Amino acid sequence: MSLIQTVQDLNLWLDNNGRHGKTVGFVPTMGYLHEGHLSLIRKAKEDNDIVVVSIFVNPTQFAPGEDFKEYPRNLERDYELSCEAGADMVFHPEVSEVYPSGATTAVEVTGSLTKTLCGLSRPTHFKGVTTVVTILLNMVRPDQVYFGQKDAQQALIIKKMIRDLWMPVKMIICPIVREEDGLAMSSRNVYLNAEERKQALNLYKSLQEGEKLVEEGVIAASKIVQAVRMYLERAPLAVIDYVELLDANTLEAVAEVYDDVLLAIAVKFGKTRLIDNKILKSKEERTCF
Ligand code: PAF
Repeated sequence: MSLIQTVQDLNLWLDNNGRHGKTVGFVPTMGYLHEGHLSLIRKAKEDNDIVVVSIFVNPTQFAPGEDFKEYPRNLERDYELSCEAGADMVFHPEVSEVYPSGATTAVEVTGSLTKTLCGLSRPTHFKGVTTVVTILLNMVRPDQVYFGQKDAQQALIIKKMIRDLWMPVKMIICPIVREEDGLAMSSRNVYLNAEERKQALNLYKSLQEGEKLVEEGVIAASKIVQAVRMYLERAPLAVIDYVELLDANTLEAVAEVYDDVLLAIAVKFGKTRLIDNKILKSKEERTCF
């Protein structure tokens, strides 16, 4: 396994390891890896000959006052974990390698996908994400790139960018990985104190509550959203950013549950903002399968 810091070394490594005639899978991350990331690396290893993992805390996706400086970092541990999960190379560029002095180009997906959910409370976030993902894809030039469903909005935006720009890469979205008690894995979970961690479980439980209502035959979005909100409000430390029921492909608001709808939530515990989601299907839809 190799640790590479520059694009020149990255290309040299890929050429020396015979990238031509082999498939390259790429897992972009901001590090502080958890089981969610490792599941992406394992899947990439299953699907490809060579697996590249990038570890880069991208400054442009954090707004002033967000946690860019505090974002947890541990390169040595990430390197070990990536290796164990099957990565062949870890790419860990400096900020100046990704954004060389004088770089002024950004990539932005406009329209409804970026104007809802996290796009409202973090208006500059997705532009930073699509810009860095484009740069990293241009650097690595993989055949397949892997993202997690936990960041459902991010995945949809990147999917649209890849489609709109005819980027020559196949995108694979992998399922959410949860702690044993149901809390979705996130690098930011380490910020939670014991009481916040306990109450944060309500995110998952509130999604289950929404799903249960749908199973019982409730289809009105307003009823489901209200029930999820009420469940979240049982946690006294929870400050709700949003609870939304949206079309799972377009992120447009829906009045009723049908086919695939996305129940998405964002909640703050102190300074820690957590997101989670569940795809719901109407009862009739599910009985068709
Ligand atoms: O999901 C993340 O960790 C980041 O947003 C990504 C895709 C690695 C871009 O910095």
